[in-house]
Amino acid sequence: MSPRPSDAPMSRRDLLKSAAAAGAAVTLTPRQLTAVPPPPRPPGASSMMRTPFARHENVRLAIVGTGLRGRSVLNELLAVDGVTITALADIAPEKAARAAKMVTDAGHPAPALYTNGDHDFERLVTRDDIDIVYTATPWEWHTPVCLAAMRAGKHAATEVPAASSLEDCWELVRVSEETRRHCMMLENVCYNFNEMLLDAMVKAGALGEILYAEAAYIHDLRGILFENRDEGLWRRAWHTRREGNLYPTHGLGPVAWYLDIHRGDRFDYLVSMSTPERGLTEWREAHEPKDSPKWQETYINGDINSSLIKTALGKTILLQHNVSLPTPYDRLNAVRGTKGVFQDFPPRLFLEGQEGGHAFQPLSDELKARYTHPLWQRIGEIARAKGGHGGMDYIMAYRLIETMHEGLVPDFTVYDAAAWSAPWPLSEASLALTSAPVKFPDFTRGEWQQARDAR
Ligand SMILES: NC(=O)c1ccc[n+]([C@@H]2O[C@H](COP(=O)([O-])OP(=O)(O)OC[C@H]3O[C@@H](n4cnc5c(N)ncnc54)[C@H](O)[C@@H]3O)[C@@H](O)[C@H]2O)c1
Repeated sequence: MSPRPSDAPMSRRDLLKSAAAAGAAVTLTPRQLTAVPPPPRPPGASSMMRTPFARHENVRLAIVGTGLRGRSVLNELLAVDGVTITALADIAPEKAARAAKMVTDAGHPAPALYTNGDHDFERLVTRDDIDIVYTATPWEWHTPVCLAAMRAGKHAATEVPAASSLEDCWELVRVSEETRRHCMMLENVCYNFNEMLLDAMVKAGALGEILYAEAAYIHDLRGILFENRDEGLWRRAWHTRREGNLYPTHGLGPVAWYLDIHRGDRFDYLVSMSTPERGLTEWREAHEPKDSPKWQETYINGDINSSLIKTALGKTILLQHNVSLPTPYDRLNAVRGTKGVFQDFPPRLFLEGQEGGHAFQPLSDELKARYTHPLWQRIGEIARAKGGHGGMDYIMAYRLIETMHEGLVPDFTVYDAAAWSAPWPLSEASLALTSAPVKFPDFTRGEWQQARDAR
């Protein structure tokens, strides 16, 4: 794989240097990073906010990375009308072949395959029969694939997170504005039933003014991280070279929707703390033979990373990451407002004035009937039957294609991709500064204050 600045282990000094270089986005004072004005837009570039797709009668899509996630999303896309899969890339030819068979088994023509190493996607993006390139590669490839796709005139869609450094976040913004191509981070959790229902409740004012939210990715991945296949081949390595919240977007994306981030508010600054690391070290002790090369590794990322984000309007968000301790699955997914509180896992609700004292009530059928999102009302049945992550993956695939068919403004902009990914490098910077506050760059250059079209 190509050595990229964001792949290398970061000493505190490197980190501070890189944070200063990032920006053009930030400058360093002894105890904290402070925001400076965003870099100027290059000539010819303009905002991608409120920019609709051209109408596409049929969407021609290519996939880079046909591992577990790439094939899972392919399965959803094949169930949506008006999509042609024209090309696939993977460094493992057998994985590309498996994905190609899924396409032909569904009755579509065989896609072209690009399996000639790490950079073969650069040939794929030059084809003239592609409208959008979706990447489900390991994290280090998300930004390079999106940049190559946009520079070749294609829209880009990426798995989460879109980037792992502030430099890459800005580069995605710069190239999207220059090429006038969208770069969307497909945060599937935004389309989950409970998250969409909660978004509808918040927008209807049922919880009053929202002041506080909780977001997390709490998922015991120890077994997966130590496998000798799939994510075990690349994901554990990040725990040996980077710190902070390595995977912020599953929890944060939906919260950004509830709080109208980039539709009237924005993330302003963050402080972060981590616990010591124990989880991966103890798992290795218990499960890995003593002659395994994994014993050469040192895991540097604390097991539980907790960050607090302050928004420009003064709201606060607790954001957590924990993939290395025994735990049930949890994204927290909580909001507190002036008229009530919603907490998830399991979903429960307290509304001011309700009967039964100060106790949570389960989500009633009446509430579900009132607040089920129109997308779930329309296609919820088929989504549940398809099954990917409880149906959210089908809704996401359907909605992506719908916005392209109908020439709508996409649900995600490049500014969302950058701001939702930024807590990774920002939490790392805060940790290096003894939890000092670090500023989010304003990737929108002030346009966050304008409300946008309804989703
Ligand atoms: N949104 C979700 O719910 C969700 C779920 C799982 C994974 N993911 C994300 O999807 C991405 C992929 O995860 P996965 O579980 O499929 O991992 P995986 O290891 O199963 O798949 C990654 C694939 O990318 C291929 N690859 C590696 N380098 C490449 C390159 N340079 N060009 C082309 N192909 C390359 C690998 O051979 C592999 O087939 C990750 O970013 C992960 O975080 C998201």
